[in-house]
Amino acid sequence: MAYENLIVEKRGAVAIVTVNRPDKLNALNIKTRGEILAAFDELAQDDEIRVVVITGAGDKAFIAGADINEFAGRTALEQREIMRGRGAFDSVEDFPKPVIAMINGYALGGGCELAMACDIRIASTKARLGQPEIKLGIIPGGGGTQRLPRLIGEGKAMELILTGDMITAEEAERLGLVNRAVSPEDLETKTMDIANRIAEMSPVALRMAKQAVKNASRTDLRAGLEAELDLFALCFASEDKEEGVRAFMEKRKPEFKGK
Ligand code: COA
Repeated sequence: MAYENLIVEKRGAVAIVTVNRPDKLNALNIKTRGEILAAFDELAQDDEIRVVVITGAGDKAFIAGADINEFAGRTALEQREIMRGRGAFDSVEDFPKPVIAMINGYALGGGCELAMACDIRIASTKARLGQPEIKLGIIPGGGGTQRLPRLIGEGKAMELILTGDMITAEEAERLGLVNRAVSPEDLETKTMDIANRIAEMSPVALRMAKQAVKNASRTDLRAGLEAELDLFALCFASEDKEEGVRAFMEKRKPEFKGK
């Protein structure tokens, strides 16, 4: 499918989704959100794709948040209607394959929230992250108040959300908001290295692993452990498990087929 504000590129088993509004620092307007939802739905069905990387066009921004221009004059009821139902962030969080945020610059507001909905975050040392909504007289509405405390703890999340301060990629790494901060020159190589290594794993096991880990923040420990056991056992229904075990015993590289 052709998109107005997205570029979808396939490199082997990895798809790279680039939000492409660099003159607006890749701010998420309604159109772009809809396109992210559609692109992820399409990639979910594409058996050749095993991992998705999402990034922003240009050298300045990952995503500088929701498109603020669309907020002017909008009523509470209109805003609620726009945000109801399944949105772009849900399509990323619930995507059946791993999603990596390649944070090449500003990841603010909805940009930080989209990155948090991803499974792994790699940031350039040029990136700045934050939830500046408070400065506009609003609060994060794309999961920021829930995902940020789960990633970095309530105290620090509260500080970032109440001050609207931006932090550097290095500080984000220290806090656990990003997995790794790397130099801008290394960002793509390091991200693709992780993406390609993950893409070699069994798609079935990746899906089970993602679901099991997500349960950690969605359920209590007991329910999470029970679900883990079921998902673990379910992997034994796959051909990939037999291939993985046999390859180990035969001292060769496994060839996972996602079956
Ligand atoms: N929504 C709409 N447009 C945005 C935007 C957003 N979230 N963020 C940046 N832009 C636009 C600017 O309006 C500007 O457009 P223009 O050239 O037509 O005037 C363009 O992108 C470049 O941004 P600019 O502000 O000139 O760049 P900067 O380097 O001076 O500042 C930021 C960069 C990120 C600090 C600043 O753009 C900013 O604070 N953006 C808003 C961040 C935010 O509050 N996000 C949460 C929204 S809920």
